[in-house]
Amino acid sequence: MSGKFVLAQISDTHVRADDSGEAARKLRCALKQARQYQADVILLTGDLVNDERPEEYAALKHALADPPAPLFLMPGNHDDRDLIRRTFPEHDYLPREGFLSYAIEHFPIRVVALDQIVPGETHGLLTPPQADWLDRTLSAGPDRPTLLALHHPPFLTHDVLFDRIGLLDAGLLAPVVAKHRQVMRVICGHHHRVAIGQIAHAPVIVAPSTSWVYGLALSDEQPIAPVTPEQTGWMLHVWTESGGFASHFMGI
Ligand SMILES: [Fe+2]
Repeated sequence: MSGKFVLAQISDTHVRADDSGEAARKLRCALKQARQYQADVILLTGDLVNDERPEEYAALKHALADPPAPLFLMPGNHDDRDLIRRTFPEHDYLPREGFLSYAIEHFPIRVVALDQIVPGETHGLLTPPQADWLDRTLSAGPDRPTLLALHHPPFLTHDVLFDRIGLLDAGLLAPVVAKHRQVMRVICGHHHRVAIGQIAHAPVIVAPSTSWVYGLALSDEQPIAPVTPEQTGWMLHVWTESGGFASHFMGI
């Protein structure tokens, strides 16, 4: 590592078994770009597949073969925790049961992944036990620059649809983040478009989808979640000890 730490955040890949490999092709394209940028870590922030089907996870696994850096997976609302565990048994950082929340300790940046999906629901939910888990986990590394990842944006985007299907009880998050000044970034996906928010002192970055982009609807008069021709992509987060973080949209 050169002093720079590069995390490639790839989100909402929505791999299907029957789309002639289009989602998988875009995922492979993002991985190829991450290789060119010498990513140190690849983090997939949920909606790995489209319909929670085993054959989709098989297609995902095929697309993720030979990643350019250590690869970490998180679930989104289109995912099934047990199918992720079963398809990727070698991913031994994933808890064997319950939520797929974990901390990655062996890089200059500590990455804390918070699973807040609700099986069968489109929205996410943060519960007091999960907020406690996060508080305890962050308390274990108070001096380590930390990036917190989840799937659903934990702030109001003012999009008519995505605030309805966002993170319920997100208000539990701000007091926890506020306690832990080492949280330098919060990153998420779900919205299929880039957006910036804030939780306590920490900027929140919503990554785009590699597969498609949703338009923004600030009122009911505007089309709700239309698929637009905007550019798909992923997010490159680069950090140095002296310069902190910068986050870049990388178009596919
Ligand atoms: Fe998605």
